[in-house]
Amino acid sequence: MSLPPNSERIMFRAWHDDDVAALHAINSDPQVMRFVADGQGWPISRTQQFIKAASDMLEQSGFCQWALIDKSSGCLIGFCGLVDTGDVPEIGWRLARDYWGRGLATEAAAAVFDHARDTLGLSRVMATVQTENAASVRVIEKLGMTRDRTFQRDGREVAVYSCCLASSVRPPR
Ligand SMILES: CC(C)(COP(=O)(O)OP(=O)(O)OC[C@H]1O[C@@H](n2cnc3c(N)ncnc32)[C@H](O)[C@@H]1OP(=O)(O)O)[C@@H](O)C(=O)NCCC(=O)NCCS
Repeated sequence: MSLPPNSERIMFRAWHDDDVAALHAINSDPQVMRFVADGQGWPISRTQQFIKAASDMLEQSGFCQWALIDKSSGCLIGFCGLVDTGDVPEIGWRLARDYWGRGLATEAAAAVFDHARDTLGLSRVMATVQTENAASVRVIEKLGMTRDRTFQRDGREVAVYSCCLASSVRPPR
């Protein structure tokens, strides 16, 4: 199964059953989850479901939101990758708070774009984000995605972005 290329500081891999504890620490952090769905941290059962769903998607579609590993420590620091929506695949990311603000999400997403275009042969990717999520909106903008529309979900404004991969702006590595 192909993976996005390793970048300078991070590598991608498929999920392991024993990733549950490390991912649960991220998914139960209220600050990490502030702009994810209803803003509630996940119980461990939801993280177990996430890993199972991502593994199934990788098997069936050849891509998923892969585990992100910090190369220097070997630690799981979050995820980045693609969700099979049945239409244009959706890119997404989530990092442990200790790793924010270092350009890692942009670095990972750029590698996923490269993989989507060069290996998976995808021509288009979309993203959704709560508009108050300034850091994630900024990552999306740095990737060269453009805003198509907004809508309300559970009282929160959500923006839909998309990008033609052939013409995406590649952020500096
Ligand atoms: C969104 C997230 C992945 C970004 O990770 P990151 O590695 O810190 O992102 P990067 O460092 O690559 O880029 C963040 C950009 O946002 C900017 N930024 C961060 N916080 C900001 C804020 N409050 N207001 C405006 N810009 C902000 C940074 O300055 C940076 O832009 P720059 O390179 O022009 O300076 C991380 O914050 C996260 O995991 N959040 C919780 C989960 C989440 O919201 N996932 C996305 C759901 S759509």
